[in-house]
Amino acid sequence: MPNKTTAIAHSNIALIKYWGNFDARLRMPLNDSLSMNLDALTTETTVEFDDALAQDEIVLGGEPADEKTSARVVEQLNRIRREAKTKSFARVHSKNNFPSATGLASSASAFAALTLAATRAAGLELSERQLSILARQGSGSAARSIPAGFVEWLAATNVTSTSDQSYARQLLPPDAWDLHDVIAIVSRDAKKVGSSEGHAVVNTSPFLGERISRLPIRYHRVRRELLNKNLKGMGAEIETEAIELHMLAMTSRPPIFYWSPATVRVMDAVRQWREEGLEAYYTLDAGPNVHVLVEGKHAAEVANRLRTFADVQEVIVSGAGGGAKLSEAHLF
Ligand code: PMV
Repeated sequence: MPNKTTAIAHSNIALIKYWGNFDARLRMPLNDSLSMNLDALTTETTVEFDDALAQDEIVLGGEPADEKTSARVVEQLNRIRREAKTKSFARVHSKNNFPSATGLASSASAFAALTLAATRAAGLELSERQLSILARQGSGSAARSIPAGFVEWLAATNVTSTSDQSYARQLLPPDAWDLHDVIAIVSRDAKKVGSSEGHAVVNTSPFLGERISRLPIRYHRVRRELLNKNLKGMGAEIETEAIELHMLAMTSRPPIFYWSPATVRVMDAVRQWREEGLEAYYTLDAGPNVHVLVEGKHAAEVANRLRTFADVQEVIVSGAGGGAKLSEAHLF
């Protein structure tokens, strides 16, 4: 068995969202999605398979992982053990470069880094596409943290589609566009309802069918403007898309509310700044924190404005990030 392996992956912010599965077990999504990797937010993971271990040992940020997280990591290791035809258990140490209590703890960077590190440690050399397919099964959005830069994840929703058709690929490299995500942290609480639970109940929203039938038009518009590097051209669609994700969550049974009063205050402010001529657009993940997208030249100004809000606890500024990659700096 090869030596211990370390991988680094970036988190990503979706411009067109993944919300709901066509096949929950394989995490094959209901729709195609688009995202940008976030250079400032990384997970670093070291994996070593060791015949002397009696079970997998999973340490996150220096602490043993809780039961739920461990179970999900073990499932991903099992997929990799099956492919590599090994029965050895693994030592997995992982840490985020962003404060873990920002509410940004992202399964995307975590499962992308784990998948690259563990496959290599198990002796597998997978292509980017194969890694994306495997990362997807750990956490859907992790599929998009494998390629670098601006990425699209193909859903593959025909009745004849198979798992190996649902993967993410690069649309633009990170340096092709100086787009920035200025993240307003309005809550550091771990979310009460995880995205897996949100995906599981989305089909109880009466609006899901309407969304899925209309989404291809929005998808192609945003994809085209992304390739044109035209934030203004896609901004309105991105905001509508973020609101729609939350509308689906709020109208699911049981309803899921991720917004806080501060979320709405920041969204209102961004709209106001735009009226005053500052080209900024917001988007949100499954949480209350607001991601403000701007050209690089406006990033510092927007960050300063966000810092003046009493209920913005921290601001993180990120450009477009690279893909999952190996590192020589092991965590143990
Ligand atoms: O990968 P998951 O299961 O954590 O789902 C991610 C869901 C959103 O972040 C809300 C949207 C997205 O496309 O990333």
